[in-house]
Amino acid sequence: PNRSRSGAHRRPASIGASSSASVDLPLRKIPGDYGLPFLGPLCDRLAYFYFEGRDQFFRSRIRRYGSTVFRVNVPPGPFVAPDPRVVALLDAASFPVLFDTSLIEKRDLFTGTFMPSTELTGGFRVLPYLDPAEPNHAQLKRLLFFLLGSRRHAVVAEFRRSFGDRAAFDFLVRCFFGTDPAGSRLDLDGPGLINKWVLFQLGPLLKLGLPPYLEDFLLHSFRLPPALVRADYDRLTDFFRESAGPFLDEAKRFGVSREEALHNVLFATCFNAFSGMKVLFPSLIKWIGRAGARLHGRIAEEVRSAVRGTGTGEVTVRAVEAAMPLTRSVVYEALRVEPPMPLQYGRAKRDMMVASHDGRFEVRAGEVLFGYQPFATRDPRVFERAEEFVADRFVGAEGEALLRHVLWSNGPETEGPTAENKQCAGKDFVVTVARLLVVELFLRYDSFEIEVGASPLGSLVKLTSLKRATF
Ligand code: HEM
Repeated sequence: PNRSRSGAHRRPASIGASSSASVDLPLRKIPGDYGLPFLGPLCDRLAYFYFEGRDQFFRSRIRRYGSTVFRVNVPPGPFVAPDPRVVALLDAASFPVLFDTSLIEKRDLFTGTFMPSTELTGGFRVLPYLDPAEPNHAQLKRLLFFLLGSRRHAVVAEFRRSFGDRAAFDFLVRCFFGTDPAGSRLDLDGPGLINKWVLFQLGPLLKLGLPPYLEDFLLHSFRLPPALVRADYDRLTDFFRESAGPFLDEAKRFGVSREEALHNVLFATCFNAFSGMKVLFPSLIKWIGRAGARLHGRIAEEVRSAVRGTGTGEVTVRAVEAAMPLTRSVVYEALRVEPPMPLQYGRAKRDMMVASHDGRFEVRAGEVLFGYQPFATRDPRVFERAEEFVADRFVGAEGEALLRHVLWSNGPETEGPTAENKQCAGKDFVVTVARLLVVELFLRYDSFEIEVGASPLGSLVKLTSLKRATF
């Protein structure tokens, strides 16, 4: 009942389905087709992963159809996804319709046109798969807001203590639950167990670098049997059952059972947070690294003078939020140019119109809308030099006005997650830790150089040289 209300106040009037600005646009039939059953989806999948690659796959079709909205099959298709047909939204005007929960249902669409077995999540459909209309969505989301809120004071100190890759898991556990994986029965195994468990969920969407046809057959055509990762998942649940004890005690107050809270907090920590940071942090280092020593010098100066300005020489949340405009902008720009979770889906609740910059398109109830986010956040009709990393893009009032087009959290950066919407529960947390990474780096070093390679999730970035701080 409250959804239409939240939908109405959240949506900017100039974009999306029912806006008045778009009624002048010509009505077009959505171009593109799905091809023959089985063969169409298979060809599209091979083109997406191997023959063209993801960006080219979408770019070539935009050119072919003369439209940023078209019909296409998305991976994985047969035999993992029952129905791979979607309407792709590939510009900044049409994409945000995916945030409107009055028009779009989000049930079971977190990973797209297929949903990993709930055997991988303790038998529960965890929060990201729930539509806001489902009663436990709001309960679980409030529970996570409680977690993030009650541990706010721990973020800076724990981040400073743990830093790096294995460190990401240690940091999250120490920050959220005040306990330490090292020395527990999990010891240093956490990240390895999580990576395998995530592979069992996202395998059909990933490229690992095996020979193409072999990989496509093994990874994209069938589900990996959950039984093979059962023992690993049990070790993670045991660890969370112990470490998150006091937090799990609170679940009842939110109307959530201890068991459902356990699997949800595990998912939020290991999948959303850990895997999200695993993609975002290398990406951030990559874009800053490529930007070169001049930018490094400017950031180092800003960060060090802001930290000195706190009086105690300590890093504080206030200093990070208020006194580092360039650092802030750099983080937003990395999130804009390379959104860590680039694929978003939603199912039309009713017949409706979706508008791109150039036309209006009729979408039928039940059709799945698919947004490839980089094409919305690198839309040249919204951003100048849209393909480039412009470090200070979001500095100043003009920059601030552009923030509503930064969409990494499944919503505009100018809005926040609520129990009624599907925006990332960890939005503020993510922005804070990304800024802390930049701060930490430039407190220690004047500059650095990198080498970039590919990895199944995001990029693999190696630091090839580091210049220690000289001022
Ligand atoms: C949802 C991105 C970190 C908790 C989402 C969604 C995106 C996203 C795009 C929406 C997915 C969809 O429905 O289509 C990210 C990225 C992260 C990150 C890129 C890190 C770099 C976190 C953290 C937490 C978190 C640290 C909490 C501890 C959640 C939850 C949802 C969600 C619970 C589901 C919200 C709902 O169903 O209403 N995230 N996230 N995420 N995220 Fe994050």
